Amino acid sequence: MQLADEALEYSYQNALAQPAETWTPLAELQAKHLLSRVRLQALLPTLNMTRGQIASDREIIDPKPEQAPLHSGFIDLPFRTLESHRRKGDASELGRVLALAGRLREQVDRVVVLGIGGSYLGGRALFEALLPTHHNEMPVPSRMGKPRIYFEGNGLDNDSLQDLLDMLEIACVDPDLRDERWGVIAVSKGGNTLETAAALRVFRAEAARFYGSHSPRRRQLLIPVTGVKSPLRDLCKADGYPDDDIPIVPENVGERFSVFSPAGLLPAAVMGLDTRALLLGAVAMTKRFLEEPFERNPVLQFAAVNYLMSEEMQKPIRVMAVWSKKLEALGLWYDQLLAESLGKQGRGPTPITAVETRDLHSRGQQHQDGARDKMINNVLVKSSRAQPIPIGMADRNEDELNAISRKTFPDLAAAACQSANQAYRDVARPTADLTLPALSEHAIGQLMQMLMLATVVEGRLMGINPYGEPGVKAYKQHMRAALGLTKSPSNS
Ligand code: PA5
Repeated sequence: MQLADEALEYSYQNALAQPAETWTPLAELQAKHLLSRVRLQALLPTLNMTRGQIASDREIIDPKPEQAPLHSGFIDLPFRTLESHRRKGDASELGRVLALAGRLREQVDRVVVLGIGGSYLGGRALFEALLPTHHNEMPVPSRMGKPRIYFEGNGLDNDSLQDLLDMLEIACVDPDLRDERWGVIAVSKGGNTLETAAALRVFRAEAARFYGSHSPRRRQLLIPVTGVKSPLRDLCKADGYPDDDIPIVPENVGERFSVFSPAGLLPAAVMGLDTRALLLGAVAMTKRFLEEPFERNPVLQFAAVNYLMSEEMQKPIRVMAVWSKKLEALGLWYDQLLAESLGKQGRGPTPITAVETRDLHSRGQQHQDGARDKMINNVLVKSSRAQPIPIGMADRNEDELNAISRKTFPDLAAAACQSANQAYRDVARPTADLTLPALSEHAIGQLMQMLMLATVVEGRLMGINPYGEPGVKAYKQHMRAALGLTKSPSNS
């Protein structure tokens, strides 16, 4: 049972028009740009039907061609993963992931996570949200067995790859010392994504050079996470990897919905995160989605408000304004989730991540005064991880801050957020607040599952299949053809 103060909440009052008795310029603006309660209420029957359809999609094992692809496996994945771990322990998928993570943590002080798109952004979001910001710079004892984490294979940037290889070469001299060893997690569901595959080839060659071409460490410290059928799996099998050392992204879980599969859980466990708490947060959110009425259901609320804004209120730009620097990567994860899921058939909202208050000093002007094409969802964290830092009294007061010496940084941030919302509201620009109780595994588990479920609901409301990414496939095929790996799709 989830305690109320651990639960994520979505508040959308600032996106609603106030009923006005007399005409005022603001009332007119509100009627044009904010949602009417009546319209929201009218959507509820469709919303409930959509929820029912999504719930029953979970039972479909063999989708009809018009339903395909149907990657609804992510919905029950957290529950199934925990349940199987409870029953089978070390022999479950989570048990094996934890064992592999334990091996890496024991054996190496640096882990490079390879992967791109949905096979990268979830892990990165967890790393940035839940580890200390300067984790990689901290000395070994302060990291308490947690390796430093690097991300590569998420582009084709020659110099960034070389910088990482140079750093490893300088820092890692003696392969017999744990603190000078490095390992790799290569995440690719399809197993043939060029960016990830090319980077892995380079790291495999490096591992052969550093550990020796016959060293078992080449297998033990370079761990793939991939689909049931994939060239990456074939490569590792040919290299003698046991099946247990190749964690699986299930067939019915799409890449950008895979953060609670080994694609996200293995990096998370290596980072020393509480994977059970992450999964429990996701389970709690699924339960709320399936069982709670609209008034207590953040998934339905978020999906409905944002769907109406982009489809009916001409607000195609969706800003996720995160009020913690540590959530920027989470914002980018949502950018990809939304763009790849709903950007289809000439439609779909355009996501943007803003980090506040940083971007109030860059995008703020446009959000307040530019085109009226935006819906802003703030993401707020109720309690900071560290003790609130006070402004403090000072002998010199030319900066005039002594008047607020007892205020803390969270006090200032709260004032900034309220003020930004008020400034937007004063000119009928819609905002809503997604509030996390804290930056914890449980809260991030809730948030990520909430956004995945809401994206599916929104897709179904729009009549767009949220699964699959035919647009991305097109570029991948052209690139393979351009490199002479396959025939050009345009000529076939
Ligand atoms: O989320 C998606 O579906 C894509 O962004 C994929 O994650 C990306 O293309 C990488 O695919 P794969 O995991 O097969 O290497």
